[in-house]
Amino acid sequence: MADSLGAVASEEVAAVAVVSSSLDKVKIFNREINYIKSEKYKEYLKNIIPLIPDYFFHVGASSTGKYHPKFSNGEGGLLKHTKVAVRIAYEILNNYALNKFTEEEKDAILVAILLHDSLKHGYIDEGYTRFEHPNIASEFILKNKFNLDDEELNLISELIKTHMGPWTKDKLGNKVLEYPKTDMQKFVHMCDYLSSKKFLNVEFSGDDILY
Ligand SMILES: [Fe+2]
Repeated sequence: MADSLGAVASEEVAAVAVVSSSLDKVKIFNREINYIKSEKYKEYLKNIIPLIPDYFFHVGASSTGKYHPKFSNGEGGLLKHTKVAVRIAYEILNNYALNKFTEEEKDAILVAILLHDSLKHGYIDEGYTRFEHPNIASEFILKNKFNLDDEELNLISELIKTHMGPWTKDKLGNKVLEYPKTDMQKFVHMCDYLSSKKFLNVEFSGDDILY
């Protein structure tokens, strides 16, 4: 089972690599990349962001629009949801009364949040949220190592894998996702969770948060 899944995943990764696009994906995430202190993680993001499928930059954050705030519905909604989650993390991580993460852990958290929903509809847009998208993105991370060492890669991959928090079971009641255990994993989930709360209203100017 694991082998056949692996084979599918590598074909799909190849499919991502052949998607060419006129979108300057790295530029779209310029502000978020600049929240990261380590040159290594910045470099990594500049390599992996171009592999994010084009649809990520266009689709809404949820297929129905029912469960996310207004700013994340419609064109560019998933991108905006991601940017708000990164911003929530950045603000809390900058307040030393609110967290005790090391600088390297903070960077890993920001990288993971930026990439957490990058394959929300699968490698190629399937038109709806793939429930197991945390596992798909986590696999994608492991297959695109670039300049990271194994420990860094596994850390990012695990942070992404557990980002759905308590929602680990699919419609049939099968447990397909992993529950967050570490403080870093819970933090990633918290930022994603807050960014998806319907009562939130965040103003955007183009692709960027206004303030
Ligand atoms: Fe998310």
